[in-house]
Amino acid sequence: MGLSAAAGAAVLAYGHFIELNRFRVRKETLSILPPGSPSLSVLHISDVHMIPGQRRKTQFMRSLADLDPDLVVSTGDNFSHTEALDPLLDALDPLLDLPGVYVPGSNCYFAPKLKNPARYLWKHTGDEKRDRDAPDVLPFRRMHQAFDDRGWIGLINRADSMEIGGVRLDFSGVDDPHLGYDRHPGFPQADHGPAGDGATTGSRGTEPSLRVGVMHAPYRRTIDRFVADGADIMFAGHTHGGQICLPGGHAVVSNCDLDPARARGISYDEGIPLEVNAGLGTSRFAAVRLFCPPEAVLLRLTAREQESGDA
Ligand SMILES: [Fe+2]
Repeated sequence: MGLSAAAGAAVLAYGHFIELNRFRVRKETLSILPPGSPSLSVLHISDVHMIPGQRRKTQFMRSLADLDPDLVVSTGDNFSHTEALDPLLDALDPLLDLPGVYVPGSNCYFAPKLKNPARYLWKHTGDEKRDRDAPDVLPFRRMHQAFDDRGWIGLINRADSMEIGGVRLDFSGVDDPHLGYDRHPGFPQADHGPAGDGATTGSRGTEPSLRVGVMHAPYRRTIDRFVADGADIMFAGHTHGGQICLPGGHAVVSNCDLDPARARGISYDEGIPLEVNAGLGTSRFAAVRLFCPPEAVLLRLTAREQESGDA
């Protein structure tokens, strides 16, 4: 009994003091760009859950600009503390010089509360209706303003377009589905300006492009809607990769209705890739990872082969 308690304590100590700081870059390649397009590299970051004083996380995040990505995709849950805006912006500073898009997660709006830490691992109801002007609200407006001021594009229930290296990227993003805030704007439409009910500054032209769906929590309804809208690729966070996994990195939970086997990495819906990021942090009240190190993802997008029928 004493021996197993000691072993359990040792595992938790490892999960808290070692694995939480075992930052890594997961590298992936997908051939999904229109034929003839130059390659693009996309840095996907998520679930930073910043608190003041996280020196190693800050150093790792600042080093990510050395990967020289063409685009940064940030899928939310940036805070785990009400005083974390300045530390967050310091960690993101080099990346904010690059083109970027972002969506918020619940931990951009609301500070985590001390409750049963394991609750994070099983709760997946997505029913947390809360007041965004309540006292425990995080400084999300100032964060979004800081992102906007540096040129990142908010995709909070809105669509937009951007051209990078001669490739046009059409984005559709939603506010956090875990909070029920998601309202799909659709993708920018050919020659019709704004899509759906979202304000967009871009418009989908007639040249080939890539349609990118961006969400925080990868709920089934959200994925299905992006696929129905014509997405070519989707980005999500929220799952923490399962956070406390079985040996081999097998997730037991996804913290939403996505199959836990898809809680980290690239999987497919009707042939459309969904990239789910295991995140850079955790709630400060559930600060343990096992067999699931924190990650950033460098996604190399290359042109697909010319298909018969392609122009
Ligand atoms: Fe998170």
